[in-house]
Amino acid sequence: MPFYKKINVDSKTVVFVWKISESYNELFHSVSLKDNSLARMEGMKSESHQKGFLAVRMLLQQAGYTDFDLYYDEFGKPHIKDGKHISISHSFDFSVIVLSERNIGIDLELRRDLVKKIARKFAAEKFVYESEHNSDDFIRKLTVIWGVKEAVFKVRNEIGISFKEHIFVRQFEMDDKQTTSLLDFNDTKQEFEVFFTEIESYTLVWLWETEK
Ligand SMILES: CC(C)(COP(=O)(O)OP(=O)(O)OC[C@H]1O[C@@H](n2cnc3c(N)ncnc32)[C@H](O)[C@@H]1OP(=O)(O)O)[C@@H](O)C(=O)NCCC(=O)NCCS
Repeated sequence: MPFYKKINVDSKTVVFVWKISESYNELFHSVSLKDNSLARMEGMKSESHQKGFLAVRMLLQQAGYTDFDLYYDEFGKPHIKDGKHISISHSFDFSVIVLSERNIGIDLELRRDLVKKIARKFAAEKFVYESEHNSDDFIRKLTVIWGVKEAVFKVRNEIGISFKEHIFVRQFEMDDKQTTSLLDFNDTKQEFEVFFTEIESYTLVWLWETEK
C-alpha cells in the first residue's frame, strides 16, 4: 500500500503516513532528488533505509512539496524553504512527516520487547513501572515514552540533553491519546503538548511546545 493516511490534527498541523510496500525502483522513479540527496541516499547501507528516505519524498509530494523544498541544518534537523516546520521519522515499513506552523517533533517506533531491556536507561517515570505486571501495557507505554523523548529532542536538539535526566513524561493511560512532557535542561523548563496513536505494530507520537 502506498499513501496510508493523513491526520488533520488541527488547522495548523497535518501528519502524513506512508506504508512502504513498493520496490526500491518504483519509489526511486517516482521522485526527483537534488544531487546531494541522491549522494546521501546512495551512501546508505541498507535498502530498507533508502526506501524509508524515498518514502519521505513521496510524502513531501503528497503535501505539495518536493525534495528541492527541503534542507537540513548543521544538526541534521530538516526545514522547509517556505518557513513551515517539518519533522520526519521512519521505522521499517513506515515513513511519516508532520508539517506545522508550530515548531514540532514526530517519532515513529516499532513496538518490541527490546524496549523493556533498555527502559531503565531512558525512563525514570515511576508510573510506567506500575504496569509492568501487564507486559503488553508496559511495552505500549514505554514505547510512547521513548517516542516522546525522541520527538522532544527533534524540537530542541541540544548537546547534553539526556532522555532520562532531562525529559519527563506525565502519567497517562493508552486510551488518553495525549499527555504532556517537560524538558528541564540548563535552567530552562519547556512544556510540551503530546499526542500519540498506534498504527499496526507501531507507535506514533507528535508534540509541540505548550503556548504560554
Ligand atoms: C536524531 C534522532 C532524534 C533521530 O531519531 P531516530 O529514532 O533515530 O530516527 P527517526 O527515523 O525517528 O528520525 C530520523 C529523522 O530525524 C531528523 N533529525 C535528525 N537529526 C535531527 C535533529 N538534530 N533535530 C531534529 N530532527 C532531526 C531527520 O529528518 C531524520 O531523518 P532523515 O535524515 O531521513 O530526514 C536520534 O537519532 C538521536 O540522536 N537522539 C538523541 C540521542 C539520544 O539521546 N539517544 C538516546 C539516549 S538514551
